[in-house]
Amino acid sequence: MSVLLQAQGVDAGYKGHPFVRGLDLEVHEGEIVTLLGHNGAGKTTTLLALSGDMAPLAGTVSFLGQPVRSPLYRRARSGLAFVTEERSVFMHLSVAENIKVGAADAEKVCELFPELRPLLPRQAGKLSGGEQQMLTLGRALARPTRMLLIDELSLGLAPLVVERLMEAVRRAAADGLGVLLVEQHVEEALRYADRAYVMRRGKVVLEGPSTEIAGRVRELEEAYLAQGAPTDTDGAQGGRPDGSGVV
Ligand SMILES: Nc1ncnc2c1ncn2[C@@H]1O[C@H](COP(=O)(O)OP(=O)(O)OP(=O)(O)O)[C@@H](O)[C@H]1O
Ligand SMILES: [Mg+2]
Repeated sequence: MSVLLQAQGVDAGYKGHPFVRGLDLEVHEGEIVTLLGHNGAGKTTTLLALSGDMAPLAGTVSFLGQPVRSPLYRRARSGLAFVTEERSVFMHLSVAENIKVGAADAEKVCELFPELRPLLPRQAGKLSGGEQQMLTLGRALARPTRMLLIDELSLGLAPLVVERLMEAVRRAAADGLGVLLVEQHVEEALRYADRAYVMRRGKVVLEGPSTEIAGRVRELEEAYLAQGAPTDTDGAQGGRPDGSGVV
């Protein structure tokens, strides 16, 4: 399987100060890869650098074998999509208009998520959180997307909705889509992913097949994930379940 997205020696951070350092990472065609780590480990920063939302301070990001420094909208045209916890829908536009603006085909979006069909005329701001994420994800998957970056798709959503969303991602991956998934729930993420990278304070400290990492999840939580004292903002961020497996 060919490499879709690759980071080589990437440093990324804010105001010229690298937080993520020496990042080497790759995602192949048809592969779901998860990026794990405690709050503030550098997962979102990594996705921003890989998506082109943030220029790396050092190193190279390559997409489809070519080093790229183009902004996200250019990469989007060549098949890179970034779905974030901030549901990137235009709240005042209808569902149908949101799909159009996203250069996607409404019929394809409704095939992926039939529950959106009766909602096409509705203002997107009046959808539930889960429906908004279906719209965001459906729009990305209904384009010729090759590589999908996901930052906390499941934040505040019911488990059944998350299951629906991830099932769509999994089917797309079976057709060749590459996925880099950031997800607060370690065990869930490892269940969906083929491979995992674990970050701690801006550095990848462990990588391997999900089955291998899953077997060490407890040890990992103690050794890597729990460190850095995750701030307990769960409630404030809208309904992260309290439980185990949350890093
Ligand atoms: N806009 C910003 N300006 C300055 N520092 C930032 C900014 N955004 C994040 N940081 C810092 O960069 C570091 C990495 O943050 P990042 O958002 O990548 O972590 P994360 O792994 O995504 O955490 P979480 O699980 O809480 O989403 C943290 O120390 C954070 O405080
Ligand atoms: Mg984050």
